[in-house]
Amino acid sequence: MKSDCHRLLPAFLILLLLPFPARSQQAPQGAAREKLSLDRGWKFHLGNAAVGKDDFDYGLGELFAKAGEGAGAVTINFPDSDWRTVDLPHDWAVEQEFVNVKDDGVMSHGYKPIGRQFPETTVGWYRRSFRVPGGDEGKRLVVKFDGVFRDCIVWLNGHYLLNNLSGYSEFTADITDYVRYGQKNVLVVRVDASLNEGWFYEGAGIYRHVWLMKYDPVHVPEYGIFVRSEMKGNVAEVVAETDIVNEQQKETVCALRSVIVDQQNRVVAEATSEPLSLKPFGRANVVQKLQVESPLLWSLENPHLYRLISRVSAGEKLLDGLATSFGIRTVRFDKDEGFLLNGKRVEIQGVCCHQDHAGVGSALPDRLQYYRIGRLKEMGCNAYRTSHNPPTIELLEACDRLGMLVMDENRLMGTSPEMMRQFETLVRRDRNHPSVIIWSLGNEEHTIQNTDVGKRIALSLMRTLDELDPTRLCTYAANNGNAFEGINSVIPVRGFNYMTISDIDKYRKDHPDQMLLGSEEASTLCTRGIYADDTLRGYMSDCDAKATSWGATAEKWWTFYAARPWLAGAFVWTGFDYRGEPTPYQWPCINSHFGIMDVCGFAKTNFFYYQAWWSGKDVLHLAPHWNWKGKEGHPLTVWCNSNADSVELFLNGRSLGIKKMATNSHLEWNVPYEPGRLEAKGWRGARVLSTKVETTGEPIGISLSPDRVRILADGEDVSVVTVAAVDAQGREVPVAGNLVRFEAEGKGRIIGVGNGDPSSHEADKYLEGGWKRSLFGGRCQVILQSTLEPGALTLHALSDGLKSATVSLRAEAATVKPSLETYAVELVPSRAKGKRVEYRHPYSQQYPAGGAGALVDGMVGSADFRDGCWQGFEGNDLQAVIDLSSPTKIRHLSANFLQNQSSWVFLPVSVEFALSDDGVKFTVAATLNNDVPADREGTIIKEFGTDLPSAKARYVRIQAKSLSLCPPWHRAAGRPCWLLADEVVVE
Ligand code: GAL
Repeated sequence: MKSDCHRLLPAFLILLLLPFPARSQQAPQGAAREKLSLDRGWKFHLGNAAVGKDDFDYGLGELFAKAGEGAGAVTINFPDSDWRTVDLPHDWAVEQEFVNVKDDGVMSHGYKPIGRQFPETTVGWYRRSFRVPGGDEGKRLVVKFDGVFRDCIVWLNGHYLLNNLSGYSEFTADITDYVRYGQKNVLVVRVDASLNEGWFYEGAGIYRHVWLMKYDPVHVPEYGIFVRSEMKGNVAEVVAETDIVNEQQKETVCALRSVIVDQQNRVVAEATSEPLSLKPFGRANVVQKLQVESPLLWSLENPHLYRLISRVSAGEKLLDGLATSFGIRTVRFDKDEGFLLNGKRVEIQGVCCHQDHAGVGSALPDRLQYYRIGRLKEMGCNAYRTSHNPPTIELLEACDRLGMLVMDENRLMGTSPEMMRQFETLVRRDRNHPSVIIWSLGNEEHTIQNTDVGKRIALSLMRTLDELDPTRLCTYAANNGNAFEGINSVIPVRGFNYMTISDIDKYRKDHPDQMLLGSEEASTLCTRGIYADDTLRGYMSDCDAKATSWGATAEKWWTFYAARPWLAGAFVWTGFDYRGEPTPYQWPCINSHFGIMDVCGFAKTNFFYYQAWWSGKDVLHLAPHWNWKGKEGHPLTVWCNSNADSVELFLNGRSLGIKKMATNSHLEWNVPYEPGRLEAKGWRGARVLSTKVETTGEPIGISLSPDRVRILADGEDVSVVTVAAVDAQGREVPVAGNLVRFEAEGKGRIIGVGNGDPSSHEADKYLEGGWKRSLFGGRCQVILQSTLEPGALTLHALSDGLKSATVSLRAEAATVKPSLETYAVELVPSRAKGKRVEYRHPYSQQYPAGGAGALVDGMVGSADFRDGCWQGFEGNDLQAVIDLSSPTKIRHLSANFLQNQSSWVFLPVSVEFALSDDGVKFTVAATLNNDVPADREGTIIKEFGTDLPSAKARYVRIQAKSLSLCPPWHRAAGRPCWLLADEVVVE
């Protein structure tokens, strides 16, 4: 259905359309669904994977014996006030010190004490309280975890919810049945990182976001929308497939209205379904076709995003509403042309990446994804492989918005229910992202890749893909040379991990109909700013000279691929260094050398090689630096990366000759070192480029360069600050290694530091403050995060012998993502609060929390009678007198009682309030009878309250008559009944 873009929009749509959402499936304002962040205010404590008593008695009590009675730290009232408060995302692995042990798993994970041999630092407990208002009764409530590393067990209010094994797959739990409305709820997660999944740093903890979703029973389930489009001439036919569920006991008739808006929020197409009749707990799948004329295509240069606004209504009532962002573009792999985006060949100039970053481990604030993708784009990279696991969704959002292609990778290949769940979750979640151009079924599955088992698994996964996403092909990252058996024999796009172990030209001849792609290349080994291999400290020279035995230098692999248009391009191992895999070294080396950038995103020399041949920008770069005190007269290899046609080099003004640059190559000069200035001049067509490296003086000061000086005061946004030592002329000193101390002042905090040194054992986190980091190759990085308060944020940097430096940023007022606060006890305004209480009948010792004063402590007891504040009377009436200390005007009197017949707790037969001036002679002010039947099941809290027109008294007496003996129909008939009372309120 077409529409007029300029017509007047109904009010609800204007509401829906206003802000372009930061998330791909986000609740528009005013809609019935709510998506609330649960990131803030978790209580965290390390547990123990071996010793139960050090693991909050986990497994020592009866956890699974009775519903809602999980013991120890999973219970609501477990005292956690002395646990650390953390906000998500959180990775406790990065907080630990490095350990030097001989263990391949520990080495490949970056020498952190995580794993079976470190039970004290391998289990983490998280507890998060929250309140759900009574008004939410009737809604479906779902908690959603975007990613937890790893093997976690989740509890709510002492009820077991689920186990989730995967460290990369998201999961949800419907908690509607367990929620305590108006009261304290506690979500508890025990995370056990004893077993790992990969052979690289994986972190530990709840390292992605957590949400509470509130839905009308009739709603679109998570990832229940699939939008795809096909170009027909100048028109995009958009197919929107929407699942709607009716999670309640009654039949419902509703309709779905779908509207497509462009980036300017103009309506470009719309459709409304026929009335849909949904059976109780039934579902519908609605397929709508919408036409968008002359669409703005999503491309790398202009990543235009449309939004599909979906509204489910019953008559006038809006039941659900959400916005799904998507792009209109075509992708095609071709056996002769490689890869085509919107019909045009695009060479895949890709990188593989793991997900950790300096300072924060695997717990990246969303903004860091944009920083990293931005750095890759600067280099001319156009594609990202999420090796070797499903990425966090914010990474895909960054790729959608900035224009970066994605190869989206599954973790472990398999078709068991759990493996299929992980794969399906990946595909359902990511299939609307225009950046995703291909799925990867897996990587280097040595044991199965050449076998029939591998083939069958691949075929089953492909069958699932046909169902869930027929718009994209898949590949598999194979390191089995020219093998054409097992997975390779059925995979539509053949992925080569490493050309050096294959004969790709021969493969092409043998299998001319298969589409071909370099799923992984390079594995070049370089350490930023170090120009000689150093086996002791674990450094590799920062030029394009060495690679692993299976890898290749940048120039070697790229020259090969660039000359073969039938190859779709390839993904470099890796874009950034990551923790772990310190190949070719071991301790003291703790992180990889494969990155084109280091863990901070600082460029190594190869950055400029790729930038020269990938970005299209003018590039002229010289390496190494020119600070070689003591090496005077020694020959140095000068490495020039450039896309100039020819380059002339000058040392202290003397020409060292002109050289012609071959395409996809670099230039080298052998130059005896002499301090001063090394300059290059390049000619690129009609343009003259120039650059230089100079011998600097000693460092005398510090420079601080934030990537952004204005950030959002949303408690999440970050600025990434480059710290360098400078000489008297303000030039960066590339060999400086000074230790710099940091302090943040004002509306922000430091969340991590790093310097890219693959052998540094300095901390990335200083939980108690006292932040510091040494420079490495002249630089380090500080990550600053905003708070929720707008205002100035200042970073101070101090270093012995250097002039200190300060930089000021502004945190600007921002929309904070809707968030659910932690539970805070609501104190009841009451004149009785804290006053003396005299019990005329003894109260039981079994349930009270807070002693005799619990009846007037200002907190109302909750539906779980174990949850504090109740006074229990076994087989007894309640009679208590409250002394208000002086004659007091009283307008209202009330008290709460609880019934839970299966625990022998019954509401009183009657409650009587009486007033007195002397505490001896009482006048009855009100007698209130119970009207709730004793056989009513479930937990009932009843307030017995009365208004008094004009009363004044010093003493208030409350008498409640207990049922005394359990009713005969009750299984415990004849036992004395309990009366539980709480909070006598005097207003
Ligand atoms: C590949 C593997 C990567 C990484 C790389 C190092 O074979 O897929 O995960 O280990 O080797 O060169």
